[in-house]
Parts: sequence; C-alpha cells; structure tokens
Amino acid sequence: MDHIKETNEYYPLSVLFRDSGLEVKPSETAPETAKKLWRWDDEQGLAGACQFGIRKGHCCLECLAVREDVRKTGIGRKLLALAEQEARNLGGTEIWLVGKVPAYYEQFGWVRVPREDAPAISKCLTCEQFEVDCFPSIMKKTVK
Ligand SMILES: CC(C)(COP(=O)(O)OP(=O)(O)OC[C@H]1O[C@@H](n2cnc3c(N)ncnc32)[C@H](O)[C@@H]1OP(=O)(O)O)[C@@H](O)C(=O)NCCC(=O)NCCS
Repeated sequence: MDHIKETNEYYPLSVLFRDSGLEVKPSETAPETAKKLWRWDDEQGLAGACQFGIRKGHCCLECLAVREDVRKTGIGRKLLALAEQEARNLGGTEIWLVGKVPAYYEQFGWVRVPREDAPAISKCLTCEQFEVDCFPSIMKKTVK
C-alpha cells in the first residue's frame, strides 16, 4: 500500500488536527497560507497528516498529527521529512514552526529560537499569553 499521498481535501485533515489537540477548526477550506497537504492512510483510513505553508515568505510546518493508535511507528517522522524536503525544493534554507512538542522536533535537528529573533510567522509571537499561560516553542531547521 502506498501510504503517503498529496491531497487537496482539507476537511478530514482538519478533523485529525483538531482531534490531535491542535488549534484547528474543522473546515472544507484550508488556510490561505497552506501550500501542500499530505495524508498517510492505513487500512482504517486517515492515520496522519501534514500541512506545509508559506507565511510572510517563510517556509513553515503548519500542522503535523498522527492518529493516536498508530503514534510512535514512524509516520510523523516521514511526514515531517516531506515538509522539510518541500522547503528545499522551493530553494528555502530554513523551515519554521510554532509547536508544543519541541523535544519531538529537536531529535530531527530543529532548534528553539527566541521569540524576538523569529519572523512574524504566528500570532503567538505577539500574543499577550505567550509564556504566561501558553508555552509554544518557536523552532527552525536549516535545510540545504
Ligand atoms: C507529535 C506526533 C506528530 C509524532 O508523531 P509519531 O508518528 O508518533 O512520531 P514518530 O513515530 O515519527 O516518532 C519518531 C520518534 O519520536 C519519538 N516521539 C514521538 N512523540 C514524541 C513526543 N511527543 N516527544 C518526544 N519524542 C516523541 C518517538 O518515540 C520516536 O522515537 P524513536 O525513533 O527513538 O523510536 C504525534 O505524537 C501527534 O500527532 N501528536 C499530537 C499532535 C501534535 O502535538 N502535533 C505536533 C504539533 S507541534
């Protein structure tokens, strides 16, 4: 079975993102910043999804989620690699994310960046709750 494919159908991905705890509202229409969506399917259907976007000219991993029952089987890693490759394909030298599981990304060479050094890729960067009662990490990876 060919597990990974690119898709334009956002709704099922948005449901998986929401169900996985990401701040995503299920919708038929992907956000304007989203440029590529991939889905991973297994016998039960959608098992993982990844959203790559461009924000203010910067390549971003916008969303990544894997269905709970198949986590830690390598699906996230493979979807993440697609987003990183897409940044390379576009001639980018970096890819960014704002996320809540920094340890996950660190093992793949991502590094945390202080808010003041990050481009304006997320509303988190100007939010008053940042590091008050919400603690996302801003991260980047150099891709060449
Ligand atoms: C984070 C997430 C996408 C990881 O997907 P996954 O398919 O389980 O990850 P993988 O199987 O590719 O894991 C690769 C490695 O990371 C480790 N890992 C998995 N989740 C981890 C986490 N939350 N923190 C640190 N390491 C983690 C795995 O144990 C594995 O290590 P190994 O290679 O030594 O065995 C998945 O747990 C998920 O959907 N979480 C909820 C949504 C979310 O938080 N998304 C990220 C938003 S920033």
